[in-house]
Amino acid sequence: MKERIRIAANILKNAKHVVAFTGAGISVESGIPPFRGIDGLWSNHDPQVLDLSYFYANPLESWTVIKEIFYDFFGKAKPNDAHKGIAFLEEAGIVKETITQNIDNLHQEAGSKIIHEFHGNSQQLICTSCSATYPAFEINLNKLPPLCDSCHSLLKPDFIFFGEGIPQEAYEASVKAAQNADVFLVVGTTGEVTPSCHIPILAKEKGAKIIEINPEESKFTNSITDIYLQKKASIIMNQLINLINIK
Ligand code: APR
Ligand code: ZN
Repeated sequence: MKERIRIAANILKNAKHVVAFTGAGISVESGIPPFRGIDGLWSNHDPQVLDLSYFYANPLESWTVIKEIFYDFFGKAKPNDAHKGIAFLEEAGIVKETITQNIDNLHQEAGSKIIHEFHGNSQQLICTSCSATYPAFEINLNKLPPLCDSCHSLLKPDFIFFGEGIPQEAYEASVKAAQNADVFLVVGTTGEVTPSCHIPILAKEKGAKIIEINPEESKFTNSITDIYLQKKASIIMNQLINLINIK
């Protein structure tokens, strides 16, 4: 593994356009459980609460689970060394942009600037009829389901539910990133969810080298990954930063 990390550090150091592509795994060491795998959220909660039609038909039930999963402790999670490592590599001019499937805002809090949020962000709620938006922390989530101040319709988190389209801007920016990248640093994702999983695949088709960080194999590992670093994200990121040795 030492040799592989050294090669990966070299590739990153000499790359022209590195794109970080992250999933729930990068936030596990910040205390946010992943969706799948051991202790995954979907083994304790039914993902239908994030199905748009179910949400509209059962707003109270869905919001009760959504609050528990995404709001009760999200505010307490802090960026870990993996988020900070990506922000550091952006600062050093190595990582040019970050595409994240996560909605936890931890890349922003770690200091990354160019972030494409493929699934939106949990920090604001949006009205399902007049599209008014509210910072999530301003809404009293002890009164569920939350309603719009101006038209009293149902509010929903402004992240993507199953059955919802990907935010146009994030989608286009991610496709462009996949076309421009010469290296994709894929961190903490099963690669099971479409259409997000097609972004690293597109990057590979366009000739990018794929460096993957994940303690477990993913759908990418034996298909598009060129260098597989099989450890927790914060451990690998710290080792990569030391080896790249940016002054
Ligand atoms: N460091 C790196 N990777 C980790 C760590 C860690 N410390 N801990 C777990 N992982 C890996 C797991 O091995 C797994 O491959 O993170 C991945 C988490 O997988 P998922 O929970 O499926 O997360 P993700 O791939 O981001 O899911 C994609 O599914 O439910 C939707 O919208 C949701 O954005 C999410 C999408
Ligand atoms: Zn409204």
